[in-house]
Amino acid sequence: MNHKPVAVITGASRGIGRAISLSLASEGFDIAAIARTPDSECMLSLQPEVEKRGAAFFPIGLDIAHTALHDEAITSILEHYGRIDLLINNAGVAPVERKDVLELGEESYDRVTGINLRGPVFFAQRVAREMIWLRKQKEEYNPAIIFITSISAYMSSTNRLEYCVSKAGLSMAALVFADRLAEEKINVYEVRPGLIETDMTARVKDKFDKLISEGLIPQKRWGTPEDVAKAVASLARGDWEFSTGTVFEMSGGMNIKSL
Ligand SMILES: NC(=O)c1ccc[n+]([C@@H]2O[C@H](COP(=O)([O-])OP(=O)(O)OC[C@H]3O[C@@H](n4cnc5c(N)ncnc54)[C@H](OP(=O)(O)O)[C@@H]3O)[C@@H](O)[C@H]2O)c1
Repeated sequence: MNHKPVAVITGASRGIGRAISLSLASEGFDIAAIARTPDSECMLSLQPEVEKRGAAFFPIGLDIAHTALHDEAITSILEHYGRIDLLINNAGVAPVERKDVLELGEESYDRVTGINLRGPVFFAQRVAREMIWLRKQKEEYNPAIIFITSISAYMSSTNRLEYCVSKAGLSMAALVFADRLAEEKINVYEVRPGLIETDMTARVKDKFDKLISEGLIPQKRWGTPEDVAKAVASLARGDWEFSTGTVFEMSGGMNIKSL
């Protein structure tokens, strides 16, 4: 069995997941990196960056929406490393096309909720079962699961209902997993980013540049993937050991309602 703790990060190739993979590599975790294509340019360039930080790197190709393939992916990680200490359920997508709620189609609803909600729920369930088994085999073992949701869990966007619903649902899933897994000594946290500058937000950058300059975000800037990764590193270190089920928001104050 691997002597170092192992972090599994979904959506590791780009954006927030990539920054989290690098920060966890620096925190002493070996990395199992999941994206749809294991040998994409992004994944190939991530490997040396992770290894430079003294961590091992194991890439896995998995579409998180395909729950029938979860078992194979998790088995391959366990065969490679022998353990999973931390799961970061980060993979997610925006709608291909933003459409008013009155025009929303079932295909987009199913795609977004399949990747952002159904997939991560069953992936977490499968990993949690392994963690419960591993706990019985190991004395020193402090497993945790982190769900990356969004401020869209509580803020409405009338042109992406499917995204908001997926994140609100995932937020509740995090709470229920936290509740159930507390007795198994597996901590579960929700990390809730605001507007973060990544590929996902590239096509709405101009719109939000303007809104941010007009005061949309109290801290008056875009978030960075590293803002999220720093918070995840703190959770991974165990700094919040007595806070299972807690929501950690990094949105520059978008949670503040001001008169
Ligand atoms: N950016 C924001 O403002 C923001 C705000 C709040 C929450 N979030 C959430 O943060 C998470 C990461 O977002 P991001 O901004 O970093 O997005 P991103 O830059 O578009 O990256 C998305 C990542 O998810 C992977 N991915 C996409 N579909 C997948 C699938 N079906 N199965 C497995 N992996 C898949 C992508 O890898 P491949 O393409 O290589 O497969 C990529 O690594 C998402 O859950 C998103 O909803 C983002």
